[in-house]
Amino acid sequence: MKKFLDLITEEVTKAFVECGYDAKYAKVTLSNRPDLCEYQCNGAMAASKEYKKAPFMIADDVVAKLVTNPMFSMAESVKPGFLNLKIDEAYLAEFVENMCKDEGRFGCDKAENPKTIIVDYGGPNVAKPLHVGHLRSAIIGESIKRIGKYMGHNMIGDVHLGDWGLQMGLIITELKLRKPELVYFDEAYEGEYPAEAPFTIAELEEIYPTASGKSKEDEAYKEAALAATNELQQGRRGYRALLDHILHVSVSDLKKNYENLNVSFELWKGEKDAQPYIPDMVQMMKDGGFAYESEGALVVDVKEETDTKEIPPCIILKSDGASLYSTTDLATIVWRVEDYNPDGMIYLTDKRQELHFIQVFRCARKTGMVKDEMTLKHIGFGTMNGKDGKPFKTRDGGVMRLEYLVDEINEEMLKKIVENQKTKENLDISEEEAKATSKVVALAAIKYGDLSNQASKDYIFDIDRFTSFEGNTGPYILYTIVRIKSILSKYYGLGKDVAGAVIEPAHSKSEKDLMMELSKFNAMMENAFEETAPHKICAYIYDLANAFNSFYHGTKIMAEENEVTQKSYIRLLELTKAVLETCIDVLGFSAPDRM
Ligand code: ARG
Repeated sequence: MKKFLDLITEEVTKAFVECGYDAKYAKVTLSNRPDLCEYQCNGAMAASKEYKKAPFMIADDVVAKLVTNPMFSMAESVKPGFLNLKIDEAYLAEFVENMCKDEGRFGCDKAENPKTIIVDYGGPNVAKPLHVGHLRSAIIGESIKRIGKYMGHNMIGDVHLGDWGLQMGLIITELKLRKPELVYFDEAYEGEYPAEAPFTIAELEEIYPTASGKSKEDEAYKEAALAATNELQQGRRGYRALLDHILHVSVSDLKKNYENLNVSFELWKGEKDAQPYIPDMVQMMKDGGFAYESEGALVVDVKEETDTKEIPPCIILKSDGASLYSTTDLATIVWRVEDYNPDGMIYLTDKRQELHFIQVFRCARKTGMVKDEMTLKHIGFGTMNGKDGKPFKTRDGGVMRLEYLVDEINEEMLKKIVENQKTKENLDISEEEAKATSKVVALAAIKYGDLSNQASKDYIFDIDRFTSFEGNTGPYILYTIVRIKSILSKYYGLGKDVAGAVIEPAHSKSEKDLMMELSKFNAMMENAFEETAPHKICAYIYDLANAFNSFYHGTKIMAEENEVTQKSYIRLLELTKAVLETCIDVLGFSAPDRM
């Protein structure tokens, strides 16, 4: 379906052209003076130079054409030459009715040429607990992936595990110290290794920080860890078997954690999977004359003339021949191109990794690893801070683990839901239902709290505010959906239906405002996809929820005596609910039936 703004622009363009003015002046925007009009066009001002005419004369000409156009209930020129427009109620109702009929899409067409896009997000490090830093990557990445899917693209999420490097050597070293008798350490052993891991996830999570702490104080320990890492990378059998155990235990735990966040990945690949691609890639960079030796390391220059700040060369191999974070990311591009030939890749990490991605992307392009048309995009997000404006910590100052944070919000939400129930007469929500509901609402609180900010900005994680049922919050959006659900169930509970009904022209200003918000849906969604900007969806549903609540407070829906009008209201409610639910689904959360 065409976008509402485009339909208006088409009509205004026709009017300009019919009056002999160039189409380029017919640019229509949403009004910035909603008290005066709904849409506006300032083109007459700009056209006045070209046509050497006073702007209001041009505006008057155009208005004369538009006043008879059934799309507008008002077309007015205002001195010095503004063009103010109001949409005709019947025209708007018809547009919204067409949205209703377009089930599941509400006027938002799928992409004509679907693209394959790999989204690299999550990025957890194996054997290390997920902390709040990983939360943003998971939340934003999941939403970007879902927005793309909704637009009809082939979106592939890859978790890109941090499963390679020193942390593995550290764990192996510590394990060897504690259980030297394990068969994995016997170099002479040639048999099969046990299927059961020699540690639990709890042990594993304790082993890593212990080992990491020791390596910082004990030089010999660190040496041992480096040696173990190296042996592992060279393929020592027992260590490989341990790595498999570490991965297995860790990944099942990670999956559980992500599931709780309503986040899932198509691919569970890791840094490890990129390693086999490194030798050929390095050879290609050498053969192509891109890579050269500098202070013992192998590097590729990636600076460009237009750079305003220094972009150092991308290091491919260290002087001891070891690969780095950038090597792994480059080799990952190799298999992704080989296996999926994607049109684009999107990476989500903390914005402090920006330079790394500039270097990797430039290196990949320069060496011809990716086709020119392929887009490579890094979305660097800001830090999630506590109320004190400093990176989020636990009460005792430690790094906040994701599970604890989620538990804390669940508890807070449960309290609020129980309180809220007390203020109502229907105290019939069981404890079990309240608990399940609080989880659903808590997830909305966390995700909306995050996604409603532009990703690159730091934000303050304020539990009180995020869990509030009022204001620009997830729970407020859910509350609005639940309110609609409850009206609908009352209506249908009376045995009524909406058979044969169509949406009538708005009966009130608030109803028209609601329709106007609805009409923006397809343009908004497309724009959110193009700009990889979930915060635009949040802003939209906040406006839509507000518009709905104003309509709700000003309209007697259940008491409406005219049945046809009542049916029209119900249809409008259904559409509002469906649009809100579609939006929160792409944001990655859902609404309960009551709360
Ligand atoms: N594991 C990394 C970290 O915790 C994030 C990985 C991001 N993705 C990538 N392709 N580099 O910082």
